[in-house]
Amino acid sequence: MAQPWPLHPPQRLVVLASGQGSNFEALVAASGERLAAQVVLLVVNNPGCGAEARAARLGIPCQLINHRDHPSRASLDTALIAACRQVQADLVVMAGWMRIVTPLLVQAYPDRLLNIHPSLLPSFRGLDAVGQALAAGVQLTGCTAHLVRPEVDAGPVLVQAAVPVLPGDDHRSLSARIQRQEHAILPLAVALAAARLAG
Ligand code: GAR
Repeated sequence: MAQPWPLHPPQRLVVLASGQGSNFEALVAASGERLAAQVVLLVVNNPGCGAEARAARLGIPCQLINHRDHPSRASLDTALIAACRQVQADLVVMAGWMRIVTPLLVQAYPDRLLNIHPSLLPSFRGLDAVGQALAAGVQLTGCTAHLVRPEVDAGPVLVQAAVPVLPGDDHRSLSARIQRQEHAILPLAVALAAARLAG
């Protein structure tokens, strides 16, 4: 096994996910290996999403905070902050969290809120970054793990991985290759964010 990244004390992670949860699972897997961290809670906003099923399989507590039950983004973020505080989160990782967050959440976890995005930011912010890259005809795209700032898909970059667009690539094939890189860089980004806080 590769040498663990030194993190003292081990970090308590809350993961926020809206979809399949493959990045969530990558963080759980890394937490048992190189990453001195524990995923203490998964929060999902979509009942029945793939991430929820993964949490059940992996034995990670999962809380549904459905944005449809909240009148505003601020109200949703207030509920998220309460859930994260309840489990004493050190870091909060948006791993396919498809809601725009407010400054409330960003300020509650300054330099402790991370996001993963399927492009080489600052290119292709927002929805369907893979589709945007294909439409633009770029030959190189990738993924970015970064600290979250109030603007969408912006903030200091922690780790990026470049992924070539191959002849014949479609949305599915390119997404799959980008996701493999996401699973590799997101645990490293968590380690770097924690190291940055430790100074
Ligand atoms: C990931 O590819 C992530 O980069 C993307 O959603 C996917 C979630 O996959 N996030 C965004 O586009 C955020 N702007 P997963 O649920 O299998 O981890």
